[in-house]
Amino acid sequence: MTESRKSPISSHRAGPLRGRVRVPGDKSISHRALILGALATGETTICGLLEAGDVLGTAEVLRRLGTPIDKRGATWHVLGRGTGGLQAPTEPLDFGNSGTGTRLMLGVLTAHPFSVRLMGDASLSRRPMGRVLKPLRQMGLAVVEGEGDRLPLTIQGPRRAIPITYELDVPSAQVKSAILLAGLGAPGLTTVIEREPTRDHTERMLAHFGAPPSIVTDGHGQRISVAGDVELGGRHVDVPGDPSSAAFLAAAALIVPGSEITIEGVLVNPSRIGFYTTLKEMGADLTLSGERQQGGEPVADLVVRHSPLDGVRVPAARAPSMIDEYPMLAALAGFARGETRMEGLAELKVKESDRLAATAAGLAANGVVAMVDGDTLTVRGTGKVDGGGQVETHLDHRIAMAFLTLGLGTDRPVCVDDTAMIQTSFPEFLGLMGGLGATFQGS
Ligand code: S3P
Repeated sequence: MTESRKSPISSHRAGPLRGRVRVPGDKSISHRALILGALATGETTICGLLEAGDVLGTAEVLRRLGTPIDKRGATWHVLGRGTGGLQAPTEPLDFGNSGTGTRLMLGVLTAHPFSVRLMGDASLSRRPMGRVLKPLRQMGLAVVEGEGDRLPLTIQGPRRAIPITYELDVPSAQVKSAILLAGLGAPGLTTVIEREPTRDHTERMLAHFGAPPSIVTDGHGQRISVAGDVELGGRHVDVPGDPSSAAFLAAAALIVPGSEITIEGVLVNPSRIGFYTTLKEMGADLTLSGERQQGGEPVADLVVRHSPLDGVRVPAARAPSMIDEYPMLAALAGFARGETRMEGLAELKVKESDRLAATAAGLAANGVVAMVDGDTLTVRGTGKVDGGGQVETHLDHRIAMAFLTLGLGTDRPVCVDDTAMIQTSFPEFLGLMGGLGATFQGS
């Protein structure tokens, strides 16, 4: 998206939040449904696609690469071009704010023998692409223009991608997925070794499209392999509700006295639910019901009631399964009694903003003691939060939503300096929260 004028909003102590809601489709699964649909043979139909800036940006990029994509009624239709069948674009590809779109598509483009320029907004242009370019260069991708492995970049895909075996040096589903997507265009087997599990939507969706990767688990982790030149068949994908968006609603219900909400159809893939596991450990009244399968992914309804919370230690090993939820957890920790210690947060520093610094600063502005020590964030909870602070969001949608949620339970309003970026992942945020009883004010 283009950077526009700032839209500050403040949130105010709310009365009980009540109701049943559905959150929009999962962002990770939405990106992958569009991408695998474009690489498949035949038509893919998608229901529940997240219609937010990041995902619509990926749809636009795929269109520019020659994939017909449109929406009819509530269903998105993608007319696949087959693996390796995308066409060279005539214009640069703009990824807006989306790290996932960029990194996944860098993988896809490694399996296409043409040159293309990629660009993004100010936040995306600061984010590291070296982590994904390192394996993709081994597969034959060349960066012909660009500085410091950051956008804007001009790349040239090889005539034929080279299959590799690569051990991830950061626990990143984006890097894993980029290599697997590039591997679809390489002869033989491309293998990713991951020591710490990261979200596995690419693997599940490849299976759904008829090309299951081989996954071998040993005591040290997993070896995930894809064969090149497989045919993906167009499929129907029903996108489950996004647990990272649901996290804000669940947190709001926990901190506002008298609240009880039900969030329907939320993705509960084990590689995504670290936030909810942590809430239970903090003493949250949170129940899952109606567990079912939807397009190869588990979903459930979540019932969340206001609860007193206790501080906990969140181990580093849990970080990949809740990486996007730390700003919200840290804000919640202010309402808990006692200290919450969150370990292993290095990856937070390279998200849409330095989320570790932005979270600690936002908490301090609202009277919460929060300390960063290396990759550990410690929040000293006292059971209540003063609020009254002005939060800098640094073009980061999750910082904006976490602090607006915090303000629903604080003594004084919490103001965030900008809310425009919320549309990149959860455009319905203010409306859904308002429908449950939350109060926000533009200024
Ligand atoms: C994502 C993976 C995570 C997450 C991001 C979406 C994905 O990033 O933070 O919002 O869809 O693969 P990393 O895999 O880089 O940690």
